[in-house]
Amino acid sequence: MFTKTAQFYDAVYSFKDYPKEAEYVHDAVSHHLKSGGKKLLDVACGTGKHLLEFSRWYDVSGVDLDSEILKLAVDRIPSARLHHGDMRTFELPAKFDVVTCLFSSIAYMGAVEGLNLAIANMARHLEPGGVLVLEPFLYPDAYTDGFLHFLHVDEPDLKLARMSRSKREGHVVLLDFHYLIGDESGVRHLTEHHELSLFPQSEYVSAIEDAGLVVEYDPIGPMGRAMFLGLKPL
Ligand SMILES: C[S@@+](CC[C@H](N)C(=O)[O-])C[C@H]1O[C@@H](n2cnc3c(N)ncnc32)[C@H](O)[C@@H]1O
Repeated sequence: MFTKTAQFYDAVYSFKDYPKEAEYVHDAVSHHLKSGGKKLLDVACGTGKHLLEFSRWYDVSGVDLDSEILKLAVDRIPSARLHHGDMRTFELPAKFDVVTCLFSSIAYMGAVEGLNLAIANMARHLEPGGVLVLEPFLYPDAYTDGFLHFLHVDEPDLKLARMSRSKREGHVVLLDFHYLIGDESGVRHLTEHHELSLFPQSEYVSAIEDAGLVVEYDPIGPMGRAMFLGLKPL
């Protein structure tokens, strides 16, 4: 995952408008929330940038599998309850009014069984009347194989270039990110392997329904990749 590059994560994804995305999610949730509380859990919370925004409206908690990333979330928002765990298996004693899983983090689930386990686990942590918010990855027909991607960071004390060429194997996209990083310690190259699953829309819908939630679909979502809401009956 991002263990080797956690310290650069926020610089690499600085194009994301976290305040605007959080407002988009909060607005959608507000139309459906019936549980009466304000506890929010962000699953695969990363460095906590959505959590910081969500703390304007909710008591926030987070879970992530990468302990290096999680340390940055702890620094960003010390008041949040942050847990190390896998989205398929974490078990928290509390239930939440809102559970979010954003920026396509669900694509790390591998086979459809992983998707089903993760969604069922998130649904288990919802209060009756609560809302699950899930931002999917690309659907298979929207993916272009062999896509060459480049981004860079150009800050006074950090120069970074990241390049990858995607490769599809079955329903999984293999990505080897090559980083060239220049900072106070010199210039170095490192690589990082990611595997992201291309689940079709129907598999997300089945997973959410099988977890006992009612699906609402937004084809736009916070960053143009769509958004599923899963409403837990009262
Ligand atoms: C693209 S990042 C998104 C982070 C954050 N939600 C954001 O919007 O910036 C994907 C995140 O998923 C986390 N992740 C990957 N597999 C996971 C798993 N099985 N359980 C929990 N978190 C996981 C990674 O550590 C990483 O923080």
